[in-house]
Amino acid sequence: MQMGEIDTERVICALAEIPDNGSRGFTLGTGDWPLRGFLVRVRDEVRGYVNRCPHAGHPLNLEPHRFLTHDDSLILCCSHGALFEKQTGYCVAGPCAGESLESVALEVTDGYVTVAADWLLGQVDAF
Ligand code: FES
Repeated sequence: MQMGEIDTERVICALAEIPDNGSRGFTLGTGDWPLRGFLVRVRDEVRGYVNRCPHAGHPLNLEPHRFLTHDDSLILCCSHGALFEKQTGYCVAGPCAGESLESVALEVTDGYVTVAADWLLGQVDAF
């Protein structure tokens, strides 16, 4: 379905729904293997990652939409404490130091955050 120029099946949320310097989880798609990911807001930019830790493959959060350390400076995996840079997803401390979260390519159109169509096509078999 199209909403103006936006493919609504790729819409995650409105940009305004992500708190300044905060995070927001999402599930996109249906069936047994939807895409589970999260967004982080860094000033005027937004980054997206698959919600799967490179250490043991667990989801990073325990509570909905809570993916960051208390000071909102880093992404935290609640399973074993790995810490990741918000801008890059690179693990700076913990059991998977030196590895990275899988990025989700995003587009922001008319104030809505969507998964990039090309990225989603490349992931069809992965979720
Ligand atoms: S699963 Fe994330 S640190 Fe172990």
